[in-house]
Amino acid sequence: MQNIESNERTLRPSEAAFDSRLDSQPLSFRAEVPALTIALAKGRMQDEALGLLERAGIRVSSVTLASRRLAVEDESGRYRFIFVKPADVPVYVEHGIADCGVVGRDVLLESEADVLQPLDLGISRCRIVVAALVDRRINDYGMLHVATKYPRVAAAHFGARGVPVEIIQLSGSVELAPVLGLADCIVDLVETGRTLDENGLRATETIAESTGRLVVNRASYQLKAAAIAELIDALGKSLQERAVV
Ligand code: PRP
Repeated sequence: MQNIESNERTLRPSEAAFDSRLDSQPLSFRAEVPALTIALAKGRMQDEALGLLERAGIRVSSVTLASRRLAVEDESGRYRFIFVKPADVPVYVEHGIADCGVVGRDVLLESEADVLQPLDLGISRCRIVVAALVDRRINDYGMLHVATKYPRVAAAHFGARGVPVEIIQLSGSVELAPVLGLADCIVDLVETGRTLDENGLRATETIAESTGRLVVNRASYQLKAAAIAELIDALGKSLQERAVV
């Protein structure tokens, strides 16, 4: 189906449709197709990930970034980026629609996706914590009602301690749950701590540290070994340079 060294390959039907929909120039007229598709988590990690990629020599033009397009190429045309919700990055990578992705460890812990994690990018450093109202001790309760965007992480954490919990899954603004009486505590992400502080909560326990990770599809790791090794190498050097500065 493909020749990795020359970067010539036949497109899968889904890829051909993807390109003809989203690119102004029909694929058949282009000299080459991107070597790798990389899924980037939209939101707080996106700018840091793009900055790291730029230092690694992979640049997406500011005009392209200013557009609302969700699938773009870098300036060299070697990489295609798709911008997706953080929780969807491992989905696209596990299914091989994206060869690689950049996403937080928090999301990976929750998704349990079968993807490779060759590189800790050190970006978007944060923690998954248990937090409760400042004047409440959460071990005062019998059954704990835990509100969270991370139901698997929360269930595993309390399950390992034998604490009975009812998990209340929310999509965001989780800090409101204890304030309004929906839950006794939350399991959520803390970066600066401001959201906890300003809503009268405090972290009582750290469940996991999280940073942005490069993830790779298992098959792509074999089939596109040269291109992926080049990407890992470029990102690794960029990380070393950042550490020195
Ligand atoms: C995350 C997280 C906290 C907040 C923590 O939410 O769930 O609410 O950021 O950041 P801080 O410690 O720097 O205050 P996000 O901004 O992703 O929005 P959400 O609540 O809609 O999920």
